[in-house]
Amino acid sequence: MSILDRGFLYGDSVFEVMRVHRGVAFRQRAHLERLARSAESVFIELPVTVEALATELRAALEASGLRDAYVRLILTRGQGPLTFDRRTASAPRRVVLVAPLPELAQSLYTEGVTAALVHVSRPAVGSRSRGVKASNYLANLLALEEARSRGAHDAILVEPDGMVTEAASSNVFVVRDGRVLTPRLEAGILSGITRGVVIERAGALGVPVEEGLVFPSDLYRADEVFLTSSVRELVSVVRVDGREVGVGAPGPVAARLREAYRAEVRRETGG
Ligand code: PDD
Repeated sequence: MSILDRGFLYGDSVFEVMRVHRGVAFRQRAHLERLARSAESVFIELPVTVEALATELRAALEASGLRDAYVRLILTRGQGPLTFDRRTASAPRRVVLVAPLPELAQSLYTEGVTAALVHVSRPAVGSRSRGVKASNYLANLLALEEARSRGAHDAILVEPDGMVTEAASSNVFVVRDGRVLTPRLEAGILSGITRGVVIERAGALGVPVEEGLVFPSDLYRADEVFLTSSVRELVSVVRVDGREVGVGAPGPVAARLREAYRAEVRRETGG
C-alpha cells in the first residue's frame, strides 16, 4: 500500500471482520453486503461485485492454508495527493487479510469480562458515516484505553446525552427478568452481524428481545449483560464500573443464546 493511501492518511476506508470456521466465513454474504453498504454511504465505489469479492476471499483463505481464521477485508478509497477532496483519489484498493484467530481463552466465556462506561459520541444524526464500518477507530481505541486504565477489560460507550450505544468493538445486550434489551440501530451503532444472529436465534427460542433505548441504569440493574462480535461471538460482562452485574458471573440467558449462536455457526459451516 502506498504511503499516500487515504485509508492510511485519513482512515478513509471501510472494512469487515469475519470469523472462518472449517474454511467457511460465517455469514459471509451479510458481511460483504454490509461492506457494500458502508462503501456506498461514504462514496467509495465497490471496484468489483460482491460475488467477485467472495471469490477473492476464498482464494486468500486457500493460500493461507488456515481452516479457522480471522479475515479482515479492507476497502480504501485509494491514493492521491495530500488533499481531502475525495475526487482526487485514484481507484479504490482492496486488501484481504487472513490471520490465525486470536487466542480466545476458555475463561473469556466461563468467567466473562469487566467493563467501564466511557463517554464517546457516535457520528451525528444525518452524518454519512453514522453506523458505517469505517476504519477510523481512534475514539474507540482511546475509550478502550480509558477503560483499561480504570481496571476494566472493555469499554461500553455512552453518548453525552447518557444513552448506551455499543462497546469498543462489539454490540451490547442487557437481560432483565428473562427479557433482552439492546440499543436500537437509530442510536448510530454498527448493525452487528452477530447482533442480528443473536436477535434471530432469541426469537426462535421464544426469548423476547426489544431494540430500544438503553441507559447506564439498565446496565447497573441488569441480571445479565453481554457483548457480541464476530470473533469473540457472545461474551458476558460480569462487572460494570466495578459493580457486579446480577450475581457477578456469566448468566443462563447469555449461555443459552451463545449455544444457539454456535449451533447456527455449525449448521452453516458444516461442523
Ligand atoms: N468489530 N460495534 C463495533 C463498534 C464493532 O467494531 C463491531 C465489530 C461490532 C460487532 O459487529 P459484528 O457482529 O458484525 O462483528 C459492533 C470487529 C469485530 C472488529 O473491530 O474487529
